[in-house]
Amino acid sequence: MDTQQLTQICQDLNIPFHQHFSEIGSTNDVAIGWVNQDYPQYSLALAGAQTKGRGRYDRRWITIPGASIAMSFIVHPHGAEREKLGLFPLLSGLAVCAALETAASLPASVKWPNDILLAGKKTAGILVESIWQGDQLKGLVVGIGINILPESIPRDLELLFPATCVQDHTELNVDPLTIIQEIIRSFKSLRVDFTSPSFIDHYTQNLAYLNQPVELQTGPDKTETGTLHGIHPDGSLLLKSPDGAIKKFPIGDLRLRPQT
Ligand code: BTN
Repeated sequence: MDTQQLTQICQDLNIPFHQHFSEIGSTNDVAIGWVNQDYPQYSLALAGAQTKGRGRYDRRWITIPGASIAMSFIVHPHGAEREKLGLFPLLSGLAVCAALETAASLPASVKWPNDILLAGKKTAGILVESIWQGDQLKGLVVGIGINILPESIPRDLELLFPATCVQDHTELNVDPLTIIQEIIRSFKSLRVDFTSPSFIDHYTQNLAYLNQPVELQTGPDKTETGTLHGIHPDGSLLLKSPDGAIKKFPIGDLRLRPQT
């Protein structure tokens, strides 16, 4: 990690505080601790390796030293944003897509809500966590893990969903710090009007599987099937059943339905 370059990036982006750990349990846990200590918005935790990296549904997330990005930053939602907390995972996904486009000229797509795909395989995952004190929101933590080099692709992740890494899709030498910089830059710029209806249109332009047959796991033993119809203004997934009815799902694990 080039600490000088990192400090320069943080200065340019008005990131008030950052810390890089060569190894840590989970950058999300670090940032959650910071939220509880009232650290300012966009405080940024980075790690070379994580020993307890977490994904959605409490899955393990592997971070290989020197081969992956593991980053978490704090967000303090304000005003209208507090009514639309469910859109922050989508905003984060779109920011990672935009960053891969800008920093590596790669056309990434988002598998709802925020898995990032390159050529249909997962290259990044995002875990947005909210921290509450009673019924008061203290803040959000946006945690992002990206597979950069081939050694970052864990075998057990591949079993859940096919995985890939950024460097396998470009001849250019990918600079992780430039990707981190572009993620935060895009997040900030998309955030300006992400509560407006046009945000959903923008997100949908980057959405994987639109109008394709999919299945959505909504519980340990519960799977819904249908065609991916679109995204509701609150960020939920819209599925069209075979009878034409449109159903809305706020959470779930999505995959393309194999054709028989
Ligand atoms: C997923 O795909 O299920 C989400 C994975 C999120 C992983 C990132 S790595 C940085 C941050 N720290 C964590 O423990 N998790 C997130």
